[in-house]
Amino acid sequence: MKFFLDTANLAQIREANELGILDGVTTNPTLMSKEGVKGEAGVMNHYRTICEMVHGDVSAEVFSTDFDEIIKEGKKLAAIHPNIVVKVPIVKDGVKAMKWFTDHGIRTNCTLVFSAGQAILCAKAGAAYVSPFIGRIDDSGWDGVQLVEQIVRIYKVQGFKTQVLAASIRNPNHIIRCAEAGADVCTCPLEPLLGLLKHPLTDIGLAKFAADAKKTE
Ligand code: G3P
Repeated sequence: MKFFLDTANLAQIREANELGILDGVTTNPTLMSKEGVKGEAGVMNHYRTICEMVHGDVSAEVFSTDFDEIIKEGKKLAAIHPNIVVKVPIVKDGVKAMKWFTDHGIRTNCTLVFSAGQAILCAKAGAAYVSPFIGRIDDSGWDGVQLVEQIVRIYKVQGFKTQVLAASIRNPNHIIRCAEAGADVCTCPLEPLLGLLKHPLTDIGLAKFAADAKKTE
């Protein structure tokens, strides 16, 4: 399973990159605005900087829901860097646009996916990635990872090539369960990723080794 960072924060990207386990980045308009990125030129520059920092795919989201506008926005984003993947919402014109992008050699990441039916449409349109939103499904009282399991099963049975990118990941357990479910990628902020490191017995063991090492001095 690949690890993508779900952020537009350059310091977080740098920190994850230094660990040597970062495979890509996903962003959305909320994450861009959180970093104070403004104006078309500002947004384009920020994406360019991220692409230059990371060796892997960088998802850049369109905000239009109309076919012509999605194509216009997506073309501009795709022109920034070869690693840009155009993130398109699962709406009717979005499906049509993803098929257009696929036919024109532009890779897409279908976003705001909350059902298996939506995931089937993404795959049919040739999306490179489908992004089921795990945490937001959990927030509404369902089990988001079950959707990942279902999509992975359907794609396997049908031989769809679209990669399952588990998004809206909130904690280390989400990452572990998505890995178990067979997700191709999980994308999350830095905190849940670093949370995978934590175990109290590791801390206790380290303290004991340090104390015993002193006795050997
Ligand atoms: O980038 C899409 C997704 O990961 C958003 O996560 O935490 O806002 O539900 P969240």
